Amino acid sequence: MSSRIAVLGLGYVGCVSAACLARLGYRVTGVDRDEFKVRSVNEGCAPFYEPGLEEIVRDTVARGRFDAAISLAEGMADADVAFICVGTPSEKNGSLGLEQLRRVVGEIEALLPHRDKPLLLVVRSTVFPGTCEEHIIRPLRRFPGIRVVANPEFLREGSAIADFMEPSLLVAGSDDAAAAECVAALYRPLNVPPCIVSLRAAEMIKYACNAFHAMKIAFANEIGTVCESLEMDAAEVMSALCEDRKLNISPAYLKPGFAFGGSCLPKDLRALAHRASRLDLKLPLLEATLPSNQEHLHRAIDLLLDLPARRLGVLGLAFKENTDDLRESPVVALLEQLIGKGREVRVFDPHIQLDAIYGSNRNFILQQIPHIGRLLDARLEDTLGWADHLVIAQKPDDGMRAQIESSGLPVRSLIGAALPDADGFLSRRR
Ligand SMILES: NC(=O)c1ccc[n+]([C@@H]2O[C@H](COP(=O)([O-])OP(=O)(O)OC[C@H]3O[C@@H](n4cnc5c(N)ncnc54)[C@H](O)[C@@H]3O)[C@@H](O)[C@H]2O)c1
Repeated sequence: MSSRIAVLGLGYVGCVSAACLARLGYRVTGVDRDEFKVRSVNEGCAPFYEPGLEEIVRDTVARGRFDAAISLAEGMADADVAFICVGTPSEKNGSLGLEQLRRVVGEIEALLPHRDKPLLLVVRSTVFPGTCEEHIIRPLRRFPGIRVVANPEFLREGSAIADFMEPSLLVAGSDDAAAAECVAALYRPLNVPPCIVSLRAAEMIKYACNAFHAMKIAFANEIGTVCESLEMDAAEVMSALCEDRKLNISPAYLKPGFAFGGSCLPKDLRALAHRASRLDLKLPLLEATLPSNQEHLHRAIDLLLDLPARRLGVLGLAFKENTDDLRESPVVALLEQLIGKGREVRVFDPHIQLDAIYGSNRNFILQQIPHIGRLLDARLEDTLGWADHLVIAQKPDDGMRAQIESSGLPVRSLIGAALPDADGFLSRRR
């Protein structure tokens, strides 16, 4: 392994990363301004308790593959790659503290005029999207040969070594794809397929993961709280929930797109919140889900109201494709708003014929939009021929997609990238 690595910051992330990279065979120098941590590593000891770390530090230091320095100049002298692992603690107002990052970048900047070889800077610290551009790339851009890759760390204290050696996710993000590939290649001995993404995506993925983990815990605890107050076994419920690998523990429902609706999700969330209030329980996460969905619907409405369109054609009226169920379809709420704001609207849904729907379904739509019959087109080509803009609210099949593409209409998709050349509501063309 030819790469010589400097790891800047020997805290939980830095020391574990440095020791594990040395274990993988790299020659690593850790740098920290804390003398105790540097001395500790050089004596072959872990500077804090983390299961398994002491053994790896002792072994790699003894083999001459890992040492530590106080001085950045010394630690980075021979390095081709520098991992930035300094802390990014919370400020009082909750914002991300970038003091350590700014300082270490300032120190790197001071060294660069004396360097004659390229440097790959790998940002392991958790930073918000845009931070690498603003605080690393911009101050260092006058130096040729500097490449920056965000490579967020996903280890958990207490199982950090196992998490490094068998990572749940390996992300390398850069606007220089070759640099991201170089970072991914450093981890090749781990045999984990890397996710190569853009720089900002790599920064954001870490926040998305941590928010998701936190939300999962809060969700399980709120469901557990309801179970507990109904004198039920929460573990029994949650372990059955986890058995479902198709819809629950899976990518299902995790694609950014349009609001949810239909005859079940809103109704059942309302019932759960209602029962919780009768039980005197506060379930902020579950109670916030319908308001969150409502906010999302309003974002979509605002987006459509801003379009330079007079005649909006809408594909899809039901809450999703392949059903004629209109109850609590967010598209119905969307149409009401667009019509209320004076937009001309026509709709095509391959499964909706007003004469063929009945019962609560028919009552719902006629109550919400009594003149819906006049807005519904029987054929997609009628909608496409009339509209000057198309809104995709449910997934088109291949035939519809071809018709839409050949119509040449500008398209807005609310359900992600429904067509290759259409901007999604929340997904951009790349
Ligand atoms: N701790 C975790 O479990 C964990 C997991 C994943 C990601 N992260 C993220 O990784 C980053 C580091 O977290 P941590 O827990 O290891 O932090 P930490 O506070 O334990 O370690 C940071 C180290 O950087 C050193 N340092 C700061 N400025 C320096 C400089 N200019 N030169 C040399 N050394 C310097 C500090 O002395 C300290 O030892 C943070 O952004 C954190 O959010 C942490």
